[in-house]
Amino acid sequence: MAVIRTCSSTWLTLVCFTICFLVGCHGASDSNERQVYIVYMGDLPKGDVSVSNIHIGMLEEIVPGVASDVLLYSYGRSFNGFAAKLTQDEAIKLKGKEGVVSVFPSQKKQLHTSRTWEFMGFNKKMRTSIIESDIIIGMLDTGVWPESESFNDTGFGPIPTKWKGTCQKSANFTCNKKIIGARYYLTDGDNGPEDFISPRDADGHGTHTTSTAAGGLVSQASLFGIAKGTVRGGVPSARIAVYKICWSYGCSDEGILAAFDDAIADGVDIISLSVGSSIPFDYFEDSIAIGAFHAMKKGILTSNSAGNGGPTPGSVVNVSPWSLTVAASTIDRKFVTKVKLGNGQIYEGATINTFDLKGKMYPFIYGGDAPNLTLGVASEFSRYCFPGALNATLVKGKIVFCEYFTDYEGVLEAGALGAVFQDTGNKDFQFSYPLPFSTLNVNDGRMIINYLNTTENPTATIFKTSQDNNQFAPFVVSFSSRGPNPITTDVLKPDLTAPGVDILAAWSEASTVTEDDTRRTRYNIISGTSMSCPHATGAAAYVKSFHPTWSPAAIRSALMTTAIPMTSNNNIEAELAYGAGHINPLQATDPGLVYDAGEIDYVKFLCGQGYTIANIQLISGNSSSCSEETDGTVWDLNYPSFALSSTPGKSITRVFHRTVTNVGSAVSNYRAVVNAPPGLIIQVQPSVLSFEYVGQQQSFVVTVGAELGNSMISGSLIWDDGVHLVKSPVVAYASIML
Ligand SMILES: *[C@@H]1O[C@H](CO)[C@@H](O)[C@H](O)[C@H]1NC(C)=O
Ligand SMILES: *[C@@H]1O[C@H](CO)[C@@H](O)[C@H](O)[C@H]1NC(C)=O
Ligand SMILES: *[C@@H]1O[C@H](CO)[C@@H](O)[C@H](O)[C@H]1NC(C)=O
Ligand SMILES: *[C@@H]1O[C@H](CO)[C@@H](O)[C@H](O)[C@H]1NC(C)=O
Ligand SMILES: *[C@@H]1O[C@H](CO)[C@@H](O)[C@H](O)[C@H]1NC(C)=O
Ligand SMILES: *[C@@H]1O[C@H](CO)[C@@H](O)[C@H](O)[C@H]1NC(C)=O
Repeated sequence: MAVIRTCSSTWLTLVCFTICFLVGCHGASDSNERQVYIVYMGDLPKGDVSVSNIHIGMLEEIVPGVASDVLLYSYGRSFNGFAAKLTQDEAIKLKGKEGVVSVFPSQKKQLHTSRTWEFMGFNKKMRTSIIESDIIIGMLDTGVWPESESFNDTGFGPIPTKWKGTCQKSANFTCNKKIIGARYYLTDGDNGPEDFISPRDADGHGTHTTSTAAGGLVSQASLFGIAKGTVRGGVPSARIAVYKICWSYGCSDEGILAAFDDAIADGVDIISLSVGSSIPFDYFEDSIAIGAFHAMKKGILTSNSAGNGGPTPGSVVNVSPWSLTVAASTIDRKFVTKVKLGNGQIYEGATINTFDLKGKMYPFIYGGDAPNLTLGVASEFSRYCFPGALNATLVKGKIVFCEYFTDYEGVLEAGALGAVFQDTGNKDFQFSYPLPFSTLNVNDGRMIINYLNTTENPTATIFKTSQDNNQFAPFVVSFSSRGPNPITTDVLKPDLTAPGVDILAAWSEASTVTEDDTRRTRYNIISGTSMSCPHATGAAAYVKSFHPTWSPAAIRSALMTTAIPMTSNNNIEAELAYGAGHINPLQATDPGLVYDAGEIDYVKFLCGQGYTIANIQLISGNSSSCSEETDGTVWDLNYPSFALSSTPGKSITRVFHRTVTNVGSAVSNYRAVVNAPPGLIIQVQPSVLSFEYVGQQQSFVVTVGAELGNSMISGSLIWDDGVHLVKSPVVAYASIML
């Protein structure tokens, strides 16, 4: 699971990689053993054809007699393909068949795990907009807790007539006029004992993301009093369609594709997915990119999380140019957890401490003074409070001080009353813990060691978390995945950033506050690009409620060109961390100009990327694709940002062709304003664009020259009509950054 909840998952990942490295996890599967493969066949065939008969027929040729036993899903509502249990040899045979675009083994994807809407300029009122209540948001996640107050349907009108989905019959789950549809997709073995075999959320993640995108207004929401206030989603009046694709053991590709197949045909307006792999795949071997492509064909924008693989360069995932890729940043609030010592000194720590010790002083002990001798564990080890290292008798009823924070398991297991850790790590986001807990910086930690070492009966208390102003907000949080784009280096990803740090939103009542906890909560605070993605989804839906006919690219363009520019004190990542900047949904309803793109533009792009004509014809369902005149370069894709990469130490020039559509005032004149630091040259031709009517298009050419060092250099192009600033980042970077 990629919600940032504990550090132990990092350790598990490391352990897992190490084991894979030693025994070879891929080689472990026998080529005669059947596993799930996705067979992707592009667009639906024309005319009244039963695709499931075609799929069965294809399988019959490969696995005679057992075709319907091995077939798991037949996709045929929105695109063509199927999922089946096959051996490697059988999969290879299918790959060679006519009509097949790609065959790839199903992988498990992971979840990328409030006040935020006010931080972005929204007020606390619900919009009684008929159009907003016609918007349907498709949430592909862990399901939802339908009884949450955030999904109360009081005051909602009838379900929009365009809705073609269903509420899948399952015990104990009912839809209402807010949650108008719900389905689940389970592959045997993906569920654990705690999972509900229904769209009901056992985890909390899906309830959290869904309420962030489209939850209603709920006053007095908080996590045990922390962050108390009104929570709301981006479009509180919008409808929700739930597609449960994630279970205790991950989110399988075959379920993700089945959910896209349904959601597109059901009539959702926006699709939100806070899910991804940790490594990038080619667009047509990636269930999310495939699903998003067919969504785009039907005018549906897919909003994706960028991943939690940061700050490593090139860690961004979900980078298809037909979807929106969202990084995570902080909001103007931070949580502090103060620690007070017997000598009256107070230190400020960075955690979310939900426990209230009411200021009472407790005995305070140094982990190094409480080793479990049975295991031969000496003080050198117990000072870090690793699991098993502490003497439970000695720490019982006490607050323990530990050096170097990796995990809370050790102190929890030993039965400590609370813990204070010295932490060298990033503190730009906070966790909550199953016991009173604070983490201090290294200097404060040294003061505490000194106090413990020089005081006869040392005592301490940990205060409940209080809220403070984060004056540096917004900045991109450390864990948010960074560009460059590993698949198409010259399309800038992530596209933009949205709040994803310490977000309060609705929670599943079947889940606990933290993993090692028994306490339940209706609202919880968690962090991840999982949390920023539904903010962008809500913003996209908000824009769509003003402009119902806008294409996915036009909505993304509006969000990107109106984003609030950000700065970085780290000039080796900047736009590679935040793309066009911080999302600004109110301004995005009036962008002035949009960089539009439709299927034909993406097909041209794919032609230029070297996909075969046969495959492009299948994907697009159009027999007249790729030709010399249509082959587009990546630089000519009508994207609202400009990126170029090259080898370090070289000077490079690229030419970008762009077309903008006037969506502002009928008569307007836009002037090109260029910001370029030394080493970057940006020329725009023509430098003035004049419009006479709404919907009019004008083209221009941008020539960018860059002297590249070892990292990146960036500037911007802004079209300015005196009312609108249509901003695009221009980024050149050294390919070695990948
Ligand atoms: C929904 O909200 C209304 C109005 O605030 C309230 O009367 C009702 O009890 C709520 N329903 C549920 C199921 O909580
Ligand atoms: C039904 O839902 C409730 C929550 O409303 C849950 O506590 C209960 O375990 C569920 N029962 C089944 C059989 O899923
Ligand atoms: C734990 O500490 C107690 C008290 O100092 C001591 O008697 C006992 O031997 C210790 N046990 C272990 C396993 O270290
Ligand atoms: C010391 O560790 C052993 C082995 O894990 C455990 O059984 C024992 O309870 C521990 N003793 C104390 C006092 O924590
Ligand atoms: C505690 O103090 C003693 C003597 O003042 C010193 O030798 C020792 O290193 C100190 N221990 C720690 C953990 O700082
Ligand atoms: C097929 O592609 C061509 C050129 O790429 C385009 O002009 C035409 O409109 C497309 N036809 C359909 C049915 O999409």
